[in-house]
Order: sequence, then structure tokens, then C-alpha cells
Amino acid sequence: MGNFLAGKVIAVTGSGRGIGRAVALAAAAEGARVVVNDYGVSVDGSSPTSAVAEGVVKEIEAAGGEAVAVADDVSTMAGGQRIVDVALASFGRLDGVVCVAGILRERMLFNMTEDEWDPVVATHLKGTFTVFRAASAVMRKQGGGTLIGFTSGNHQGSVSQANYSAAKGGVISLVRSAALGLNKYGVTANAVAPVARTRMSAGVPMELAEIGEPEDVAALVVYLLSDRAREITGQVYTVAGAKLAVWAQPRELRAAFSEDGAWTPEGIAAVLPESVGVDPMPMLVRLEEMERAAARGERPNA
Ligand SMILES: NC(=O)c1ccc[n+]([C@@H]2O[C@H](COP(=O)([O-])OP(=O)(O)OC[C@H]3O[C@@H](n4cnc5c(N)ncnc54)[C@H](O)[C@@H]3O)[C@@H](O)[C@H]2O)c1
Repeated sequence: MGNFLAGKVIAVTGSGRGIGRAVALAAAAEGARVVVNDYGVSVDGSSPTSAVAEGVVKEIEAAGGEAVAVADDVSTMAGGQRIVDVALASFGRLDGVVCVAGILRERMLFNMTEDEWDPVVATHLKGTFTVFRAASAVMRKQGGGTLIGFTSGNHQGSVSQANYSAAKGGVISLVRSAALGLNKYGVTANAVAPVARTRMSAGVPMELAEIGEPEDVAALVVYLLSDRAREITGQVYTVAGAKLAVWAQPRELRAAFSEDGAWTPEGIAAVLPESVGVDPMPMLVRLEEMERAAARGERPNA
């Protein structure tokens, strides 16, 4: 056991399986008392069971750690509040929350139903809001704490998961808003875009060149939750196997100014192509490469 998180209380959503489970186990092994939240659903969000969260609590206890299970749905305000209430009632404080819970309902945009859009956005985006909302109220009074959201490289866009991509883009903006709004209270907020072998990534239809284990992602999360990372906020990090990367902040790339202070379509047509231009979309460039490879009969790599 290490002591990166000695004395801290950490709540982890979606920690019954996959990356969340690895985060809960690693946090406990580093000295944290842990709230294990998991609704215990299938990849598409159906068939909840409380056994999944309870199983990880037993694993932590068997290793000599302390944990408590919460089997609530993070996409409800009551669920987010209960995770925070249970942390306070069981352990008396809350130092960090990690929002890992997620589901997938894959469909091309032109066929996607409301029932495929709403639960995906609700689990990832609202499910991060409900926990950040309840936790930040406690952390603001406490004068410190750490919020961690889970996003995905797919926030850049996705062929057949517009719901998931939109939710993951939303998580980044929510994290940056939390970083800005809570900075003066000593609360940090960061996002992790992982790539790891889990039941969720098992459904990806191509070879992933860069992929690793949930434990690699857990190591980054433990670091971000620790006092060693107190100065880090508003960031998005990726762990993909041996790779650790930071994402750029969104910023304007090039600007042009109209001579008389106003724009017309004609004025824009005269200036935009030469002076402002486009920023090529990396995902689209890669998609076109993959389509060319597939047309040659090669197995596409991502
Ligand atoms: N595995 C990857 O390579 C990868 C890549 C990019 C992003 N992510 C993100 O990382 C996170 C973890 O993914 P994973 O691969 O470990 O998935 P996973 O399916 O193994 O685990 C997700 C867990 O979340 C739980 N969950 C789902 N809905 C919930 C709800 N409403 N309330 C509480 N718990 C709920 C599930 O029961 C499950 O145990 C997700 O947010 C996912 O989008 C994963």
C-alpha cells in the first residue's frame, strides 16, 4: 500500500467495473476511504443491479481498505446527492469525486432515436453534473477538493456515437467551468480521456494502436487526486497504454478584421478563404485514410 491519498475520502462513480473499479481499488490501496458507486447496468444502461458496487467494496475490504457501496443512478439529482451524503455520513468528509460512469447506445445520427440520445447524455453529462453539484457545495465550505470528469478522445467527433461524443464534449466544458468557478475556493477540476481494455472498449470495431489497462488510468487519477497535483486545474489528460498526454486548450487560431467594422456575406467571402481559412479536422483526415485502407482490402488501424 502507498500513501498518496492517506486520510482522504474519495467517491468514484461507475466503479463496479472497468476503469472506475481500478480507480476505486487504487485509491483504497493508496490510503483513501472510498465510496463505490455503480448502478450495475449493461453497456447500454439496462438491467441495474446493486451486486456490482457491493462486489468492489468486498474486494477493497479484503485488501484491508475501507469502502461503502452506493448503487444509485448518477443521472438523477438524488443519486448524485446520495453519493456525497453517504461519503459524509460514513467517513465525515469528501476530498475528491471521480465521475467515471458511462454507457453507450451506438447509432448513425440520421437513425438515432430520443431513447438513444437522452440516456447517454444523461449518464455522462448530467451524471457528472449531479455529482459535481453536490460535491462542490461541500468542497467550497471545506476550502478544497478535487473534481475529476471522464471524457473521451471521441469528444473530437464520432461517426456513429454523436450522443456519446456530444456528452463527452460537454464534460470537458463542465470541467473547465468548475475549474474557473471553484478556483478561489481551492477546488480543482480536471478531465481524463482514457483508452483502456474494458467491456466498453471491447466493442470498438478496429485495432487500437494505443491502448492499455485500467490500472494505468487509475494511476493518473490517483496522482490528480493527491496533494502533489494541487496546482493542476482545467486540464484534459489522456492515458493510453504507455502514453501520457495533455490536450490543448481551445483557442482562436487566426482572425481577420473588417475595414469598416461590419461584415457582409460578400466581405466574408473575400476574406475568409485566404486570411482565416480552416483548421483541418484530425478525425476526418484519419477517417478518410481508414476508408482508403478499407477500399484496398486492408484492416483499418486507429
Ligand atoms: N475504455 C475505454 O477505452 C474508454 C475510452 C474513452 C472513454 N472511456 C470512458 O471511461 C469511463 C469508464 O469506461 P469503462 O470502459 O470502464 O466502461 P465499463 O462499461 O466497464 O464501466 C462503466 C460502469 O459505469 C456504470 N454505470 C453506467 N451507468 C451508470 C449510472 N447511471 N449510474 C452509476 N453507474 C453507472 C456501469 O454499471 C459500469 O459498471 C466511461 O465514462 C467511458 O465513456 C473509456
